[in-house]
Amino acid sequence: MISNKEIIELVEKQISSGLLQHVCQVAQTAEKMAVRFETDREKAFLAGILHDYAKERPEEELTAIAEENGLLDEIYRQVPFLLHAPVGAILIKKELGIEDEEILNAIGNHTLGRPSMGRLEKIIYLADMIEPGRDYPGVERLRNLCQCDLDQAMLAALDSTLGYCLQHKRMIHPQTINTRNYFLKLDKMKAKQSRKDQG
Ligand SMILES: [Fe+2]
Ligand SMILES: [Fe+2]
Repeated sequence: MISNKEIIELVEKQISSGLLQHVCQVAQTAEKMAVRFETDREKAFLAGILHDYAKERPEEELTAIAEENGLLDEIYRQVPFLLHAPVGAILIKKELGIEDEEILNAIGNHTLGRPSMGRLEKIIYLADMIEPGRDYPGVERLRNLCQCDLDQAMLAALDSTLGYCLQHKRMIHPQTINTRNYFLKLDKMKAKQSRKDQG
């Protein structure tokens, strides 16, 4: 099994310095969130370092790997950039021998999210959006939500992502909509439950 140090060295060789700074900040943010939400901090750090492993691969390569693995759909074909997440998970397994399903899912779903995401998946999705280098309207509110409730933070993060896509005329993958609806439903259920509990 390859060590974390060796993995970081391998990543350093493959990605640009700008991206390296981003992935290190995501890893540190994810590690802190893992401690707060009682998840494996080492896995969170590793998933953070590796989440954009395929981000700088050419679009043709992303599309070809996605096609080979039966991942390619209409939206991915039009926005191949989104594939850096699921293709990243495939490459990490193949090239680095990482087999941990939680880590692979967290990397594979960090662009679209998915309904019923696990805790590490939510942490990586959110850490990517709130790492200290991020600056956009609403990021402070999202940072605050990430301190107390991962599900509420996911709903806010997805609303923000969808709002950005609408505003900038970007294609929206249906999985992002399904994920947002899942967290909206969860939020409504929790609110209903807490009203019941209060009396
Ligand atoms: Fe990414
Ligand atoms: Fe990222």
